[in-house]
Amino acid sequence: MANPRAMILGTGHAYPEGILTNADLEKMVETSDEWITSRTGIKQRRKAAPGEYTSMFAVRAARQAIERARLDPSEIDLLLCATVTPDQLLPSTGCLIQAELGANRAAAFDLAAACSGFLYGLTLADSMIRIGQSRYVLVIGAEVLTQYVDYTDRSTCVIFGDGAGAAVLGPHDGTAERGILAARIRSDGRFAEHLHAPGGGTRLGTTAETIASGQHFYKMKGNELFKVAVRSMIDISREVLEEAGARAEDVKLFIPHQANQRITDSVASKLEVDESRIYSNISMHGNTSSASIPIALDECIEAGRIKEGDLVLMASFGGGVTWGGVLVRW
Ligand code: ACO
Repeated sequence: MANPRAMILGTGHAYPEGILTNADLEKMVETSDEWITSRTGIKQRRKAAPGEYTSMFAVRAARQAIERARLDPSEIDLLLCATVTPDQLLPSTGCLIQAELGANRAAAFDLAAACSGFLYGLTLADSMIRIGQSRYVLVIGAEVLTQYVDYTDRSTCVIFGDGAGAAVLGPHDGTAERGILAARIRSDGRFAEHLHAPGGGTRLGTTAETIASGQHFYKMKGNELFKVAVRSMIDISREVLEEAGARAEDVKLFIPHQANQRITDSVASKLEVDESRIYSNISMHGNTSSASIPIALDECIEAGRIKEGDLVLMASFGGGVTWGGVLVRW
């Protein structure tokens, strides 16, 4: 018998209550609502309060996803937490979430692929389910990016926001062609310095000097990233469509990583996906890295935008650089 496809059985999302608007940023750096809106599409982003950390939002999103999948946490075999902003370096945030959820049979670990983390996680989950190693896999994308943002650097501080999204996957035992049809992930570390936080690791350990010079903050070559992002998201989207024997016009909903409205528009227009089939929430959340696609996916499901049989395309791009594409028949 052919191996079962992996299906998304339930999703959830959560974010902090705190909101940072463009008007707030106007008071912090030399910028304007007009510049931020026209160059990025962002109007506001969520910002964790002091004392709020990544796993808090991850656990809320995960509980919702598990409940909607009609499972008990103890049925989860594998928990993947995609994050570049872990609660702490040791242990993994995945293990902290696993304990909090009571997912007592699950293996748990973190996955650092920046904005592509969730699609990296879906791809791994798909493989583990297909080979029969895991039955139910929880994939989480969760970030508190605002702790790594330099609020004196106008080219990065306007972009990033906080939040978490989660999905539970399991085998599709039915006969219909449903579930993950194609999943592809890639990387190119030659572009590592396009988006990086140099300090705080073994290469440049934390000292009073590294903190004083802001080496733990994100540094970004936004312009360079923009070009690589558009090209790689188009290529990977075409690749997964071709692998599944589908065409862009068959896609009912396209959920790209929410990095910049202009990136989304460029990718969609090259792929020739109609505007009405593209989901964007960037005006409300900014770029939440690995949380961006699962938050968007859950919002679409809550809004009734995805029906059984729909073809859903997700594509991401992020620091590393990393990128990925996943095509799902709902
Ligand atoms: N307000 C006003 N002016 C600004 C601001 C701001 N917030 N930020 C930059 N500028 C200025 C620059 O200083 C520059 O001025 P100059 O011409 O006098 O030097 C001018 O605007 C143009 O700067 P660019 O960097 O060329 O602006 P661009 O249009 O490229 O927009 C942005 C910058 C929004 C960062 C864009 O490049 C972008 O979105 N890049 C992609 C980011 C991304 O996708 N990140 C990857 C994923 S994130 C992850 O993995 C965690």
